[in-house]
Amino acid sequence: MLWCNGLGEYESKYPIIVKAVWWEKGEVCWINTSKLPFEEEVKCSKDPNVVARAIKSMEIRGAPAIGVAAALAVAAYASSITYEVKNVSEYITKIEEAINTLWRTRPTAHNLFWALNRVKNVLRTGYDIDSLAKNIVAEALNILKEDIEANIRMGEYGAKLVDDGDTILTHCNAGALATAAFGTVGAVIRIAWYKGKNIKVITTETRPVLQGARLNTWEYTREGIPITLITDNMAGYVIRKRLVDKVFVGADRITREGYVVNKIGTYMIALAASRNNIPFYSVAPTSTIDLGSSINDVVIEERDPDEVRKVLGKYLITLPNIPALNYAFDITDPDLVTAIVTDKGIVYPPYSKNLPKIFKE
Ligand code: MRU
Repeated sequence: MLWCNGLGEYESKYPIIVKAVWWEKGEVCWINTSKLPFEEEVKCSKDPNVVARAIKSMEIRGAPAIGVAAALAVAAYASSITYEVKNVSEYITKIEEAINTLWRTRPTAHNLFWALNRVKNVLRTGYDIDSLAKNIVAEALNILKEDIEANIRMGEYGAKLVDDGDTILTHCNAGALATAAFGTVGAVIRIAWYKGKNIKVITTETRPVLQGARLNTWEYTREGIPITLITDNMAGYVIRKRLVDKVFVGADRITREGYVVNKIGTYMIALAASRNNIPFYSVAPTSTIDLGSSINDVVIEERDPDEVRKVLGKYLITLPNIPALNYAFDITDPDLVTAIVTDKGIVYPPYSKNLPKIFKE
């Protein structure tokens, strides 16, 4: 199965037990995370509309996974329509339409726009349909491969922050299921574990979509990594009681000032961690870091209030028409973040000075 363009030294370094998005026979394939942990459904498509719906409905979710899937969707489409178009300009128009469709799916994850811009830039590299198609597929496969490599690098940097015997609190799923493979926080946990550190994970359930309860538990138990589930509102007490040594969360976007935009609920955890002197780390690849934006530019996604009114998309837990807010992400201030673990190293405050530096190295 060709699912990645060669992983070089990493291929044999760590086992790939869970992957969320991959390339197979000219299609983008994904595990439908909305059905986990009850059903392991795999879907494949070369239709950008289908992939856009999968991203919007969160079958594919997690910032890096969204970016990789969008790029692969454009690639699959680009190679499937070469015989249907009359000329290069019609071909480019169709690819741009596909990119626009995917662009409008979710507004907060920076990786989506970063990946689609990379694919879009390829449209300037050739003047015939076949070479454009080839170049788009190559770029999308590079994005896939780079995601996995970045995760492994973050894992190796981040694992150094983990001590033998640590209990790590995480929120939402920033594991393999949120990336092409390994995860961001997932890579830190995995690599610490593979290095023989005796660690334990505590995951919040992560209302309303339950990425912690459904995805972290499924993902980490597959590798025998001990994981305990708490409700979101237990995080403060669990931190205060010192049942947690370190907090590791992902990010959907990190601004140039070092604000961490991540799954709703992250901010409350960061506040509790700071108050109790527990280190709070965000783990994110450079593709999540948006040096071009200040926090005031960031769009926080608001989703269907029914996600709050119901559990698992079907069981009403309140009156059917009760007004509900459904912000998908929140903002954690830079002074609450002990360090940001990236694929280019661990960045410490002051972030507005130190984050730009890693892009120059
Ligand atoms: O709404 P989601 O599930 O796409 O949100 C995902 C998160 O907030 C993750 O923590 C973040 O994308 C980091 S994923 C490596």
